[in-house]
Amino acid sequence: MASSKITVEVDNVSYTDEVEPRLLLVQYLRERLGKTGTLIGCDTTNCGACTVHLDGVSVKSCTMFAVQADGHKVTTIEGMATDGKLHPLQQAFHQCHALQCGFCTPGMIMQSASLLSENPHPTEQEIRDGLEGNLCRCTGYQNIVAAVQAVADGTVSAGSNETETAGVA
Ligand code: FES
Ligand code: FES
Repeated sequence: MASSKITVEVDNVSYTDEVEPRLLLVQYLRERLGKTGTLIGCDTTNCGACTVHLDGVSVKSCTMFAVQADGHKVTTIEGMATDGKLHPLQQAFHQCHALQCGFCTPGMIMQSASLLSENPHPTEQEIRDGLEGNLCRCTGYQNIVAAVQAVADGTVSAGSNETETAGVA
């Protein structure tokens, strides 16, 4: 199969590669770039484990071909921390115990970031609606919602990896 040349900015680094047109974006991220923080749960657009941002908007990377990302900017969970400091959502998931096995967590955080960029002060129901495309088999969702709410309320911020701040339970 003929390959195509693509140039994609991923987590602020530009990559140019030859890819087969059938290569999924999630496969490109994981297998070519080693971005294994982006997970594959279902491969059928159902679970959200593969969620990344394309030009700042969340997409399920098992639903896109890598060639469709040509000329675009992709952010993965591995690009969320800056200067060695966790993103507030990463901090909040940690503090609120919003994960157990962790398999859904990268996708949950990417989707939550997209949700908060569109709606910085969501209600609980708006958080639940915004995360409905991301499945978690472990937590019952309550602490995930609490983590997103904590960031929206400003009770969690980036800057450390400590557990005693914020007053969230
Ligand atoms: Fe993409 Fe499940 S792996 S939605
Ligand atoms: Fe296990 Fe969500 S923490 S699937």
